[in-house]
Amino acid sequence: MTDNIYKPVTATVLDIQLEAGGGRPIRTFKMQIDDESEREDFLHKPGQFCIVSHFGTGESVFAISSFPNTDGIVEVSAMRVGNVTGKLHELDVGDKVGLRGPYGNDFPVDDWKGKNMVFIGAGIGISPVRSVYQWVLHPDHRKDYGDVTLIYGARTPADLAYKEEFKEIEARDDLDLWLCIDWKFGPDGPIEAASHEDWPAINMKSPGDTEIPAGQNRFTCFVPQLVEVVKPSPENSIVVTCGPPIAIKFITQALEKLGWSSDQIYTTLENRMKCGIGKCGRCNIGDIYVCKHGPVFTYQEVKEMVPEF
Ligand SMILES: Cc1cc2nc3c(=O)[nH]c(=O)nc-3n(C[C@H](O)[C@H](O)[C@H](O)COP(=O)(O)OP(=O)(O)OC[C@H]3O[C@@H](n4cnc5c(N)ncnc54)[C@H](O)[C@@H]3O)c2cc1C
Ligand code: FES
Repeated sequence: MTDNIYKPVTATVLDIQLEAGGGRPIRTFKMQIDDESEREDFLHKPGQFCIVSHFGTGESVFAISSFPNTDGIVEVSAMRVGNVTGKLHELDVGDKVGLRGPYGNDFPVDDWKGKNMVFIGAGIGISPVRSVYQWVLHPDHRKDYGDVTLIYGARTPADLAYKEEFKEIEARDDLDLWLCIDWKFGPDGPIEAASHEDWPAINMKSPGDTEIPAGQNRFTCFVPQLVEVVKPSPENSIVVTCGPPIAIKFITQALEKLGWSSDQIYTTLENRMKCGIGKCGRCNIGDIYVCKHGPVFTYQEVKEMVPEF
């Protein structure tokens, strides 16, 4: 770690993958810290975040989506929404960036040994979830956990991130993978009949009553509805979920209907941040600093902090 706590280490962009196109594209950036002596300090834990700087423009906060390693390799998936993310999306392989971190708390993966694991990602929210499912599915760890269910949805098939990785995941026989694509919309809301090709519509009025053809694991619906279709059992289980706040709200409602309690559900918060280290007061909710005490919280903790959530 450098003496100036705000001074980033430099890293080189090794690879850039376009995950999703459209108006708010997502790119995954694989970066490697240049100075070998600084790589050990960046050994992160699943759930932690980092701050990436585009030199001359500014910094942005991102979940670290890659598996922890001592090679100084850090992957983040960034949606282009504004100044810094716009400039990051113009980078080429070989360009330099700054990195600060890893910051924040992490998912208690050791406490979860012996549990069934359910991962639920909506849109770009799959990024922090990825760091945990990669951990659980790693050959060194898979035996420590029970059944694994992975539920993930995006707007269209083209918007699904980590496509190559998901092909490998789908070929595995030690997990259940469920995918969904948003409804198409008409003037009065979602249109049940207009499902995407190869992605049949669920029973919109009563998702839990959807008949599932053998081998069918992809549907047209929203992620919370897919949760009702899949019906993950709360028994001896933990959920890790992340997505836009509205998706989290309905995902947790769907889980509660299935008998899950708030302390079995873990999520990460993405409050606006600046320093990332509990100094600036930008991210706090009451006396909780999301950058320092979080970003990982149980849903029970979130409800106590933000009663309207
Ligand atoms: C812990 C944490 C983890 C995050 N992980 C990811 C990630 O993995 N991938 C990813 O794409 N983004 C992630 N974000 C959000 C990301 O930090 C912001 O999108 C980014 O900082 C915007 O920077 P900008 O300069 O491009 O946009 P700006 O020019 O600052 O703003 C442009 C738009 O983005 C919105 N915006 C800015 N910051 C945030 C924020 N923190 N949350 C929501 N909207 C914001 C603004 O309201 C505005 O509409 C994370 C944020 C936090 C706090
Ligand atoms: S981002 Fe500065 S205190 Fe949390």
